[in-house]
Amino acid sequence: MKIISFEGVSKIYNSHSIALDNVTLAIEQGEFVSLAGKSGAGKSTLLKLLIAEERPTKGKVLFENKDVHRLPAGELPKLRRQIGMVFQDYKLLPDRTAYENVAYAMEVAGIEDQYVKRDVPQVLELVGLSNRTKNFPHELSGGEKQRVAIARALAQRPDMIVADEPTGNLDPLNTFEIVKLLLKINELGTTVLLATHNKEIVDSLERRVVILDQGKLVRDEEKGKYLIT
Ligand SMILES: Nc1ncnc2c1ncn2[C@@H]1O[C@H](COP(=O)(O)OP(=O)(O)O)[C@@H](O)[C@H]1O
Ligand SMILES: [Mg+2]
Repeated sequence: MKIISFEGVSKIYNSHSIALDNVTLAIEQGEFVSLAGKSGAGKSTLLKLLIAEERPTKGKVLFENKDVHRLPAGELPKLRRQIGMVFQDYKLLPDRTAYENVAYAMEVAGIEDQYVKRDVPQVLELVGLSNRTKNFPHELSGGEKQRVAIARALAQRPDMIVADEPTGNLDPLNTFEIVKLLLKINELGTTVLLATHNKEIVDSLERRVVILDQGKLVRDEEKGKYLIT
C-alpha cells in the first residue's frame, strides 16, 4: 500500500525561487527511502509539504490516501503524530530530562498516564538510552540527543519517521549509529524517509534513493547511489 504520494507538486515561495518543480513520487508502506540532493535542492520543502507546514503552489500531497492540504485544521496534530519528524537540531526541551522530553510529547498528545509510564522506558531502551533517562539535553552528546528525539517520535507510534538531515550536526561515528538506528526502526516495520546531503550515508545504505536537483526529481532508483547528473 502507498503511504505517501506526491502528484505533480510544485512549490514557489516567491517568483525568484522554484523550490519544487512538478514532483511526482510514491512511497510504499515499509520502505526506507533516502531523499538526497545538494543544499537548496528542495528536500526540506518536500518534507514541510508532507506535514502540511507549507502549502503546494500546484499539485497534491496524499498521506495514507488523504490529501494533507484538505484536512480540517483539527486533524493536523494527528497527521503530525502519524508522521514522526526528526530534525538536525533535535528540538528538545532544554529544561526537561530525556525521560521527560518523551513523556511530555505523549502527554500533549493526550495519552493516558499509565501508557506514558509503560512506553517511555520502552522507547528509550529501543534507542539505546536506558542509562540516560534522567539526563538533561546539555548532559547528552549530539548522538544521544538525536536518540531522544527519535524516541519522542516513536512514542507516538507513528506510521512513518521523517528525518531532515538528522546527522547534520554529528561526527562520522554518531552519524553511522543514528543511520543504523533508523534502519532498525525500519526493520521493525516503520516507513522511513531520510533527507540528507551526505553522500557517504546514501551510498552505504543500498536502499532506494530519490534525488532532487533544483527542485526537480532527477533520479529515483532502488539501491541507488548518490549521483548528481
Ligand atoms: N520560506 C522560504 N521562503 C523563500 N524561499 C525559501 C523558503 N524555504 C526555502 N526556500 C528556498 O527554496 C529552495 C529549496 O530549499 P530547501 O527546501 O530548504 O532545500 P534543502 O532542504 O534541499 O536544502 C531554496 O532555494 C531555498 O532558498
Ligand atoms: Mg533542508
